[in-house]
Amino acid sequence: MTLAAAITPAMTPPRAREIAAELDLRDLPQDFYANPYPVYAVLREREPVRRMPDGSWLLTRYADLVQVYRDAHTFSSDKKVEFTPKYGPGSPLLQHHTTSLVFNDPPLHTRVRKLIMGALTRRAIADMEPGLVTLVDGLLDRIEAAGGGDLIEDFAAAIPVEIIGNLLGVPHADRGPLRGWSLAILGALEPRLTPEQQELGNRSVVEFTAYLTELVADRRQHPGDPEHDVLTRLIRGEAGGEQLTGAELLQNCVFILNAGHETTTNLIGNALVCLQEWPLELAALLARIEESRHDRAAQENVMAAAVDEFLRFESSNQLGNRRAVAACEVGGVPLDAGALVTLCIGAANRDPAQFREPDRLDLARQDNRHLAFGFGIHQCAGLSLARLEGRIAIARFLRRFPRYRLTQAPQRGGRARFRGFLHAPFAAQ
Ligand code: HEM
Repeated sequence: MTLAAAITPAMTPPRAREIAAELDLRDLPQDFYANPYPVYAVLREREPVRRMPDGSWLLTRYADLVQVYRDAHTFSSDKKVEFTPKYGPGSPLLQHHTTSLVFNDPPLHTRVRKLIMGALTRRAIADMEPGLVTLVDGLLDRIEAAGGGDLIEDFAAAIPVEIIGNLLGVPHADRGPLRGWSLAILGALEPRLTPEQQELGNRSVVEFTAYLTELVADRRQHPGDPEHDVLTRLIRGEAGGEQLTGAELLQNCVFILNAGHETTTNLIGNALVCLQEWPLELAALLARIEESRHDRAAQENVMAAAVDEFLRFESSNQLGNRRAVAACEVGGVPLDAGALVTLCIGAANRDPAQFREPDRLDLARQDNRHLAFGFGIHQCAGLSLARLEGRIAIARFLRRFPRYRLTQAPQRGGRARFRGFLHAPFAAQ
């Protein structure tokens, strides 16, 4: 098997049906992690609202996900009911995951979101571009000098940690542990956890919040520019309005640092690995980048379409969750009040009812209304920033190393929720 063929190994229809028939998100076979899409297709066609062994529901159709995302009154994001038994009362993971805005409903959600969005304006994001270009070019220089490296460690993962660190004003010297904390805390959202993962997740919340307590104390003394510094905004709260409590402030900072981290790493990493499987798309993209080289707006359009297609095709965040607070119906199936619902973004983004030839990577795809950033009141607050990072990182990488190639089969992260690679060694050419 060539390296490219090893990236997403084919799955036979009988095997996809076999996995689909016994699917349990708490116990997934290795070949599912490598290529879940044939299994998603079976579910979408046969049982798009699927009762899972633990009594929850798995949704795989685009239209059904949109219905749930739209109706935040019926489908709550508050996770106290699910997470209390999962993490244990009083545990750091419980406190963290039940205080962050993404796992809350209004009014806490609305208050925190407004503060974050105030610092992520179009102008504030545009102002980040020059620093991002310098950062990316510095990484590419190092890779060029070494003749290659690891697409994830040396490139994809090295970008978001700096960008998100800047957003909260974390000093450069303190950024080392951020990725490990983030992987451990978000990793604890996986459907099944080992005691070691649970312990690591709890320890990471404790260490992360201890670190942020000092950072917040310092920022209170020396406030930053509220137009750009999310932490200063969160500390100040709304003008004339309520302030966040100490715990709300710390846990939401942890969340922002995590949210922008692994997801964006996976966007960039998945894109560069995926292009190795699709050489004709790579050649066509390189040609479009070259053609638009002297026209900034045209180049932005080329890269914007490509980034959105990478997000659709290999969504970094594959699963989302809601809880029905009242009896309701989805896709013709009645759900009881209290029903737990898993939204399969990876499946919805390959739904042929929404996307023409959904299993084809088409980097010039138009009208690409994918759900990689979710939808509705919780839609990703960092989507413009993530798109900017993706555009700049991928375009500059490809311009520098148009003939890059993998030198070993890349190693997947092995997670159902966050889809990406841990390592992808490559030669820079
Ligand atoms: C490719 C990169 C990214 C992907 C795929 C992604 C995906 C998502 C998704 C699917 C949600 C919705 C969760 C739900 O509805 O349950 C979300 C929420 C969120 N994301 Fe992102 N994200 C990315 C990058 C970022 C970045 C760079 C930031 C940094 C600021 C960020 C901050 C947030 C925040 C604050 C929320 C919560 C919004 C709310 O609950 O109102 N994300 N993201």
